[in-house]
Parts: sequence; structure tokens; C-alpha cells
Amino acid sequence: MDPCCLLSSANIRKNAVMQDQPNFRLDGKTALITGSGRGIGLGIARALASVGCAVALADVDLDVARQEAARIEAQGGKAIAIRGDITQITSAKEMVDATVAQLGRLDILVNNAAIQSTVHWTEQSAEEIEAQYRANIVVPILLCQQAVKHFKPQKWGRILNIGSIQQIKGNPKMLGYSLTKSALHTMTRALARDLAPDRITVNLICPGYFDTWRNRFDWKSKAEMEQKGKDYVPLGWIGRPEDCGGAAVLLCSDAGQYITGQTLFVDGGLSVK
Ligand SMILES: NC(=O)c1ccc[n+]([C@@H]2O[C@H](COP(=O)([O-])OP(=O)(O)OC[C@H]3O[C@@H](n4cnc5c(N)ncnc54)[C@H](O)[C@@H]3O)[C@@H](O)[C@H]2O)c1
Repeated sequence: MDPCCLLSSANIRKNAVMQDQPNFRLDGKTALITGSGRGIGLGIARALASVGCAVALADVDLDVARQEAARIEAQGGKAIAIRGDITQITSAKEMVDATVAQLGRLDILVNNAAIQSTVHWTEQSAEEIEAQYRANIVVPILLCQQAVKHFKPQKWGRILNIGSIQQIKGNPKMLGYSLTKSALHTMTRALARDLAPDRITVNLICPGYFDTWRNRFDWKSKAEMEQKGKDYVPLGWIGRPEDCGGAAVLLCSDAGQYITGQTLFVDGGLSVK
């Protein structure tokens, strides 16, 4: 079910949680999600909004972020759109500052946006490799630096990084990208150790193969995509953006408060194939 079906229903019930039971709600919390105008980031933003979190949709394409923020608001959630380009070093502070200025606080950072160059490693230029390192590693670290300034005083925070199945199945046609995803694995573990005393958790979701904008040329029709899912993915379908939503809610809410430094593959079983 689309998690935003919950937004407009009576399911939004504040404080309706038994004290000793897992609390998946995020009422009063705010989240910044990079690259969330489309795809997996949007799926995560919608899932967080469905459990009461105010979300900042940051994207290099401000128009699409605005449209999706308006759609979440129309369904009863709280959402804003901000421009954010992870290829720009200065964007890290700008995105965090804009979120806090408009939503009043910051509790959750989702490092979702990533760029990728699909050139065989023998042909990939130094500039292309460096650009992927800057966007997929350097700017996410800078975003974490900015976010923890807000998390530490409140002794509560969540960092959710988005890796890839390619970090364990290195792709020779996307070597620079695969390496940046491996780096996020190390970064997740290092930050989790450092931030645990401040009750800040840091985890990594690794998607498998998803039906998103970046893969739009991988199939000519819906039928071809569905066949590919049956042939290629153990569970039988290509991931849909909302398929990462449940894992994100677990790791960002108090239901997941004892989980940190972990990597969770959300891949329909591809990583065990
Ligand atoms: N799609 C997959 O099969 C897949 C598999 C494994 C991991 N991932 C990871 O999941 C995350 C999301 O991937 P996706 O496929 O949903 O993305 P996508 O390519 O569909 O794009 C998502 C959004 O990112 C925005 N974006 C592009 N460049 C940007 C930039 N420089 N700064 C900010 N925003 C930018 C786009 O405008 C778009 O709205 C990425 O980290 C990706 O590496 C995706």
C-alpha cells in the first residue's frame, strides 16, 4: 500500500502508542532528504510523512520537489521543497540551514542523492571519478557535520545513508560510483561509533534494482520491466520507490532506536542470489 494513503486517514493518531511497544511514529520530528523530488528519496519522504514527520524535499530540480511537496501536503502531511545540488560543496550547509529556517528544527538526515557515471573503468576520467567522490561522499559528510550540530543538543538524531547493492557487487562500468557506495558503508560505521553517546543512530540502506528515473532507459515497456523483475530478482519484481519506505521508517523512528552502524539490503533478495 502506498504509505501516503495513511496521511489522509484516521490513522494519524498522535501519542496513540503503548509505552512498551515499538513506536513507529515521527510526530514533531523533521527530516531533510536529498534528491527526493523523485525515486527512492521521494518514496522515503512519503513514508516518513505518513508517520507524522515534516519533510524537506531537497532536489536539484526544484520544480519537481515543489510538485511532490504539494502532493504530500494535499494528502495531510507537512512538506517543503528546497533546492539542493550535491555536486556543490556549499549546498550542504545551505540545505540544512534552509530546512531549519522553514521547519524550525532538524531530527533526521537522509543522504539519498547520488550521481553516477556509466563508463567502463578503463575509460573513466579522473574528473569523472573525482566528481562522484565529491557528490557521493564529500557532500554527504559535510551534510552530516551540519546536521549533528542540531542533533547533539537535543540528544536525538538519525542519519540514514543510501548505498547500493553495487558496494558488494562492484560494477566495472560504474567503478567510481560503486566505490563511493563502499565508502558510505565505512562512513556509516565510523559515525555510528562516534555519535552513539549522543543517541544519534547512523545506518545504511542498500537498494537493489529499482524502477526510478536513473534506470528509465533500461526497459522499453512496463511488460519488459516486469519480465526483467521475474527473471532477475528473487522476489520477482523490480523495486518500486516505496519499497524502501518501511525500512526507512524503522531506522528513523524510536522503533529502531537500538539499531546503529548497520547495513540493510532492500533488494528483493538480489544480494543473496
Ligand atoms: N535506482 C536504483 O536501482 C538504485 C539502486 C541502488 C542504489 N540506488 C541509490 O538510491 C539513491 C536514489 O536513487 P534513485 O534511482 O531514486 O535516483 P534518481 O536518479 O531517480 O533521482 C532522484 C532525484 O535526484 C535528483 N538529483 C539528481 N542529481 C542531483 C544533484 N546533483 N543534487 C541533488 N539532487 C539530484 C533528481 O533530480 C531526482 O529527482 C541513490 O543514492 C542511488 O545511488 C538506486
